[in-house]
Amino acid sequence: MQFIDLNAQQRRIRNNIENRVKQVLDHGQYILGPEIQELEEALAAFVESPHCISCSSGTDALLISLVALGIGPGDEVITVPYTWISTAEVIAMLHASPVFVDIQPDTFNMDPDRIEAAITPRTKVIMPVSIYGQCADMTRINAIAAKYAIPVIEDAAQSFGAKHHGKRSCALSHIGCTSFFPSKPLGCYGDGGAIFTDDEALAEKMRQIRVHGQKVKHQHPLIGMNGRLDTLQAAILLEKLEIFPEECTLRWEVGQRYNRLLSDIPGITTPFIAPGNDSVYAQYTLLTENREQVSSALRAEGIPSVAYYAVPLHLQGAFSDLGYKPGDFPIAEKVASRCLSLPMHPYLTAEDQGRIAAAWVPNLDR
Ligand SMILES: Cc1ncc(COP(=O)(O)O)c(C=O)c1O
Repeated sequence: MQFIDLNAQQRRIRNNIENRVKQVLDHGQYILGPEIQELEEALAAFVESPHCISCSSGTDALLISLVALGIGPGDEVITVPYTWISTAEVIAMLHASPVFVDIQPDTFNMDPDRIEAAITPRTKVIMPVSIYGQCADMTRINAIAAKYAIPVIEDAAQSFGAKHHGKRSCALSHIGCTSFFPSKPLGCYGDGGAIFTDDEALAEKMRQIRVHGQKVKHQHPLIGMNGRLDTLQAAILLEKLEIFPEECTLRWEVGQRYNRLLSDIPGITTPFIAPGNDSVYAQYTLLTENREQVSSALRAEGIPSVAYYAVPLHLQGAFSDLGYKPGDFPIAEKVASRCLSLPMHPYLTAEDQGRIAAAWVPNLDR
């Protein structure tokens, strides 16, 4: 059994993808070719956001956003310690400081109740993460940010397609950033990402940063980077986007089936989805008291499982200069010590899910 079976999707749409790729090979505009604009329009329409800027990865989407907001040395960005490293890495890359706040014990997303205590005159951005496919409480986070006039960037690398009170992830705040890494809910066949914003001037600046600060060729009024999405990846994403709404529904169904199979097993806490949210289950992550035992029992049956994220960011060597220590974020640390992600993709069969649940139960009897 595979953790994420990308081939099942490819078998469905391989011909269409090949046709799309062939069109790019025929016109030969590999950099910012026509598929880029077509994709940006399609993504903006899907998310219902006025502006989409495609880019080279989810990490670069976050980096371009922070650069566009002018974040630099001395600035603070409030974020969470329980996420993939990119979220805080881009802040540190700009010589600004990540300021962590703990997560909620049930959704594993930023706890809005802890934000105000972390705000200082140097706070320039609040950057929640919509972890595992479920949006953070963007309604409350936006309200707090508005009170202090601080922009919000949703790190929606894992939640593309999810909804929060009827609105899509990425369109919930000033800026939303996502990733098209192959295993993400909407993935390409390499690296890719996108930024969404409702601010036209900011969108223009981000487009400029994406291409070495250029607006007019060979004129560089701004410092930028090479942050473009490849035309070939845009072509692949256009085909995948066609079936993405259906895949979001399939993901939800796979998640609900897991809940039914696993929620009565002692020692397991299945994922909690907050009222007003759904989830695209980028990961199906539960909490278990005996992770090592369970994951080795699953492995013995040929079932992969992964502990995303076993070490929270405040305890990573890369952030040792921030001076955090064990115990600073007890909820993130507790979740990190118990989390376990199971195989998850839209084409996971009921039979395979049954095998996973069956492998679990005898293990607990031992
Ligand atoms: C929460 C989060 N933020 C940012 C990223 C970075 O995305 P990418 O790998 O496309 O750079 C990821 C990817 O794993 C992620 O999960």
